[in-house]
Amino acid sequence: MAEPLSDRLEHELAEQYLRGIGWSGRFETEIHPRDDMYTVMVGHADYRPHTLGFYYFKSGFDVLITLEHLLTCAGRKWEDLGRVLEFACGYGRFTRFLAQVVEPSRVVSADILEDAPDWVTRHFGVQGRLSATEPAALELGDRFDLIFVGSLFSHLPRARFEAWLARLLELLTPDGLLVFSTHGEALLESGAAPDGFTFQGHSESDVLDPDEYGSTFVRPELVERLARERHATAVYHRERELWNFQDLFAVGRRACPGLEAWTPAPVVRGRIDQVQIEADGRFWIAGWAVDLSGAPLLSVELAVGGRTLAQIPIDQERPDVAATLQRPELARCGWQLEGRIPELPPGASGLIASATSASFARRGFDAIVIG
Ligand SMILES: C[S@@+](CC[C@H](N)C(=O)[O-])C[C@H]1O[C@@H](n2cnc3c(N)ncnc32)[C@H](O)[C@@H]1O
Repeated sequence: MAEPLSDRLEHELAEQYLRGIGWSGRFETEIHPRDDMYTVMVGHADYRPHTLGFYYFKSGFDVLITLEHLLTCAGRKWEDLGRVLEFACGYGRFTRFLAQVVEPSRVVSADILEDAPDWVTRHFGVQGRLSATEPAALELGDRFDLIFVGSLFSHLPRARFEAWLARLLELLTPDGLLVFSTHGEALLESGAAPDGFTFQGHSESDVLDPDEYGSTFVRPELVERLARERHATAVYHRERELWNFQDLFAVGRRACPGLEAWTPAPVVRGRIDQVQIEADGRFWIAGWAVDLSGAPLLSVELAVGGRTLAQIPIDQERPDVAATLQRPELARCGWQLEGRIPELPPGASGLIASATSASFARRGFDAIVIG
């Protein structure tokens, strides 16, 4: 089993990603060796060697951007929130970011994995709490202005899905928002159940009972009905809003008119998809990058070993990307660069591609090892 960040190049790429987004040195970067959100990437074809740490932190940061944008649309700010519950926090992929924007003493982070609460308390200063299989058994002795549940409802069987929805709604303050993600049925290749709720008894976890924690695909209209039946009068929903993959719901007991106009968050996605590098440093690199909010990106920056190599325009049509993202308006997202790396450092180095826009300086979106 790969030890997270134990390899020099992986550590370097993760560190450079965090420096790029302005978070280097701001928090604990240790990753729990059994964090499934890390281990699930090991050996996965989508992730290049040495980039797992980079992607682990990017996925946590993308949650932060997504939630911050949701709060802005709702007319709220992190600092306005009293108590925050991060339910199903795992080993803190997102907790480390959350604890930087909300005073950790106001954050409760709960999970069913026995050592997770202690881990998140020790590493991020939040109040870690052990959850339960039975929703009725969860007693936190508090109400919350925001409850965030990332990627748990995407794993629950029907009875638990409904019971956790009811239980977490009970834990909200009157104006509170419960924000949770689900897998939409579009992610299923075939065989969606006629009632809109498909549960399959397998997941990335090899410790949780597959009858309690599998893979769940659910029709948004059904989620909305289940929430309303449990006295959520306000139900808002955006398809594929989390990681451009999971549907996101924001539900509560009071209307939140700003969320009628909930727009996509400014999350950057992109890919270095072609690389050719000669021994003398001549190279050709091409790829794509988009801001999912639809705002234009200004340029792509390529950096090797932390040193900027070039800033290049995003000026090529990539209908293939637009089709995959199902966003025809984002087709002009391609970039390419031909040149020579001045002094290619000896041995292997990490190359990071970042995007800049009018509202952010640098956000890494992909990485690769060269040399
Ligand atoms: C896909 S992981 C997501 C973890 C974390 N939210 C993240 O994005 O990194 C789902 C998490 O749900 C937790 N979980 C499963 N059943 C739970 C329950 N009944 N109460 C609280 N957490 C639970 C698992 O232990 C796991 O950490």
